Amino acid sequence: MLKLGVNIDHVATLRQARYAGRDRGEPDPIEAALICEAAGAHGITAHLREDRRHLQDRDLWKLRESIKTRLNFEMANTEEMVSLALQLKPDVVCLVPEHRREVTTEGGLDAVGQLTILTTSRQRLNDAGIEVSLFIDPDLAQVQASSQIGAQFVELHTGAYGEQFHRKKERQDELHRLIEASRRAHELGVGVNAGHGLNTQNVAGLFQVPHLIELNIGHTIISRALTVGLATAVHEMLSLMGKYPT
Ligand code: PXP
Repeated sequence: MLKLGVNIDHVATLRQARYAGRDRGEPDPIEAALICEAAGAHGITAHLREDRRHLQDRDLWKLRESIKTRLNFEMANTEEMVSLALQLKPDVVCLVPEHRREVTTEGGLDAVGQLTILTTSRQRLNDAGIEVSLFIDPDLAQVQASSQIGAQFVELHTGAYGEQFHRKKERQDELHRLIEASRRAHELGVGVNAGHGLNTQNVAGLFQVPHLIELNIGHTIISRALTVGLATAVHEMLSLMGKYPT
């Protein structure tokens, strides 16, 4: 069964718009995570950015204490974040590139260009019992490098697929890249997740990509929650994902 990890950063973005600098406020990302779990989500994804623009450190600690499913901690590969992860002990760390001025994570990690430093972090995290995923573009060289680094998973960046979804030729090209990258990762024994820019319109199109284990989805679920409620938004996505061929 294709699993759903719900990215709750967007709940914190809304809270920070009103309550930045305070130690409480609404909406509460922990409450949201618990609703997602109760609605059937298989995991919670949370990105602590270096500038703390949405989730705060206290949110990560509360999430670690409260949720019963898997905590996927998205973070930049910095000493500050690796040290924090070693204490927090999420189930999995997804290493992502981070640029201060981006609205959301824009491109994949350059695993090819950062083989040594990514291997060092991967080793430190694995030694603490934390699995490691690398958020990469669907590019064969990046998949190969992720395998060399020893990552347990790659998360294939579906942002370009989402962007191009309404243009047939470009969508097919992106799908082709995702299919090839997923096949290669699977051959190399690396687990395949995917995420970014997925929504109820485009998610089914992604089902041509084989070997997918988990999708990490945030913006569309949290947006939809404003009109239908969070549990319903999670149910809708899970019901679509139930059609992924097993
Ligand atoms: N996966 C990664 C690595 C991300 O950075 C994000 C965005 O925070 C997502 C998945 C979820 O993307 P979206 O909010 O577009 O569903």
